[in-house]
Amino acid sequence: MRIIINANRSKGTINRNIYGHFSEHLGRCIYGGLYVGEDPSIPNVNGMRSDVVGALRELDIPVLRWPGGCFADTYHWRDGVGPREQRKTIVNTNWGGVTEDNRFGTHEFLELCRQLGCEPYFSGNVGSGTVQEFSDWVEYCNMPGKSPMADLRRQNGREEPWNVKYWGIGNEAWGCGGNMRPEYYADLCRRYSTYLRNYDRDHPIYKIASGANVDDYEWTRILAEEAGFAIDALSLHYYTVPRDTWQHKGAATDFPREEYYSTLAKTLRMEELVERHSMVLRRADPSGRLGLAVDEWGTWYDVEPGTNPGFLYQQNTMRDALVAALNLNIFNNHCDTVVMANIAQTVNVLQAMVLTEGPRMLCTPTYHVFRMYKGHQGAKQLETYAETRLIGDTREVPNLHVSASEAGDGSVLLTAANLDDAAPAPVECLFEGLGEKGAVTGELLSAAPGAHNTFDAPEAVTPKAMTGIQFEKGRFSAVLPPCSVAAFRIVP
Ligand code: AHR
Repeated sequence: MRIIINANRSKGTINRNIYGHFSEHLGRCIYGGLYVGEDPSIPNVNGMRSDVVGALRELDIPVLRWPGGCFADTYHWRDGVGPREQRKTIVNTNWGGVTEDNRFGTHEFLELCRQLGCEPYFSGNVGSGTVQEFSDWVEYCNMPGKSPMADLRRQNGREEPWNVKYWGIGNEAWGCGGNMRPEYYADLCRRYSTYLRNYDRDHPIYKIASGANVDDYEWTRILAEEAGFAIDALSLHYYTVPRDTWQHKGAATDFPREEYYSTLAKTLRMEELVERHSMVLRRADPSGRLGLAVDEWGTWYDVEPGTNPGFLYQQNTMRDALVAALNLNIFNNHCDTVVMANIAQTVNVLQAMVLTEGPRMLCTPTYHVFRMYKGHQGAKQLETYAETRLIGDTREVPNLHVSASEAGDGSVLLTAANLDDAAPAPVECLFEGLGEKGAVTGELLSAAPGAHNTFDAPEAVTPKAMTGIQFEKGRFSAVLPPCSVAAFRIVP
């Protein structure tokens, strides 16, 4: 099967933020997963788990979204600043009704971002908050001079502003963020946006409106037409659920073959969603200024048996690795509109990068895909064509899925997934720029669809160096095993 990389055609630069993540006050994502506070039994720096931060740093995370999700529209940021012992205790009504003592707040999140080396993306409260409260949060984080909020920040121990760039104006305003109609939310969005100020000309803020649920193109149209001038991007949320019902979504492990293929088929729907929402955006904004931020995506299964249903804890298999590969290929290939994407969620929730159990931690197959793909960040997307055949029984999917990009040093990263759970895919990749003195190396993640890492066998699914790559001028060939993800680095 041939893959052609056309170095003469590109949709532009792949925004680094496509490789973004999302961490909500949900289950064990923040508490126990990222933050252990004063717990001396788990090595930490300023409360952040050293093992988790160390693993995540390998991914070069560009941007991290917080504090929700649905939690964001119940969150009042002042509850989470100042002396910890004086912080308000609230109930996390969205996720398990657990007590939230706010010991992880604005300063802690920004410290986490500092340790990860990523940009923060704050999701502000529109559903149950006020314009003044949201406006104050921006002032608290970004005002360099003297002002009531800057003074409060200093009183809480931080002299310099953080210059937080990314601000989400609510979350899922059509649902848990207030059950609003698009016309009403568009007006609110204009109003909130007016009072989210720039405090430093060199660090303008970037405003992301709460966009559509899946295929609600009308939401996107109304938002873009009525509030487009007041924002920089609109979000899109789309989760992959194997079955057609949210009551019984399907298991994360030990799933039937049919659900392997339905999961992949449903993931591929992301392409249609991105294309159609982009078309609606472009009609309202022919300049192309408005971006699409897919700020929640990933698999959503039934929780692991015996765990709190409100905590959304699920295992992560080779099937999830393929889901990550497909979505990231799609975002790369639509980098002319997709300005950001944030997989849900970083630790212990939904399609996580890492799972923890007390002091133990493991990296999931999804984590490995993010590491293998990180070379796409900020690189120039290159057009690719792949010969494919349709596979699967009840749901058909192409057997191959690819994307490619060129880095600043001229090398090319080709990422390819073989979706077939039984047949290998011999591929021949044509790339005109590959010279006789060139080189091709590869990394491969391959396992049975249900294979996963456990705390006792944390390296059951890990990438290996690719063997058997044959190359000559202008082309190379290799065999992708069944159910695998490969990353080839081509040095022309
Ligand atoms: O990621 C879990 C939840 O999914 C988020 O809180 C919400 O925005 C979405 O419905």
